[in-house]
Amino acid sequence: MTADLFETVGDARPPRETMAEGAVVLRGFARPFEAALIPALGDIVKQAPFRHLITPGGHRMSVAMTNCGSLGWVSDSSGYRCDGIDPNSGAPWPPMPSVLCRLAAGAATEGGYAGFTAEACLINRYVSGAKLSLHQDKDELDFAAPIVSVSLGLPAIFLFGGLKRSDPTRRYRLEHGDVVVWGGPSRLAFHGVAPLADGEHGLLGRQRINLTFRKVRPGAAGR
Ligand code: SIN
Ligand code: FE2
Repeated sequence: MTADLFETVGDARPPRETMAEGAVVLRGFARPFEAALIPALGDIVKQAPFRHLITPGGHRMSVAMTNCGSLGWVSDSSGYRCDGIDPNSGAPWPPMPSVLCRLAAGAATEGGYAGFTAEACLINRYVSGAKLSLHQDKDELDFAAPIVSVSLGLPAIFLFGGLKRSDPTRRYRLEHGDVVVWGGPSRLAFHGVAPLADGEHGLLGRQRINLTFRKVRPGAAGR
């Protein structure tokens, strides 16, 4: 037996961590996809640039957003909704590249939700200080499907609570490549992101990119 057996090799974090019933963090799950994923995101952002949406209450969100897939998440003074058209260009959102479909389906299966086909992918960009306050993802019509959330770039503190806003939240540090999947009894759990700390990431620079994949319409196959 050699001393090597007792050394910690590579990523010492457990590969998966259960957050609640139906909710799991898959550490580093997206890393094998990054070589195809990052250029694919660059193409999407050329077609549908990041923008700071206005909440129905009139606030400019600190997180910049865009979407790909047959539906996108948008917010304006009339409310939150899922829409097939980018309101900035009047054109459909860019289609979901196959690497994103594969990543979302693979992570969902690994998280216990086989057969997930993402219709919508909301792409969030956080720079230093940007945050997302506690909310539920409930603008979809299909709560049978999970949410698959991919973290890229700078690390962030993800807050994950219960079904009531007042329930206690736990804090999870999400790093580049980590994927969180929540569904079933956790599908409507409140969650948010603490203000991003500044830093420099080797591949993505001074930002964090988060992808949330959703299935919006019950029974729809996605694309
Ligand atoms: C979201 O809830 O839409 C994004 C979560 C995250 O950025 O980790
Ligand atoms: Fe969310």
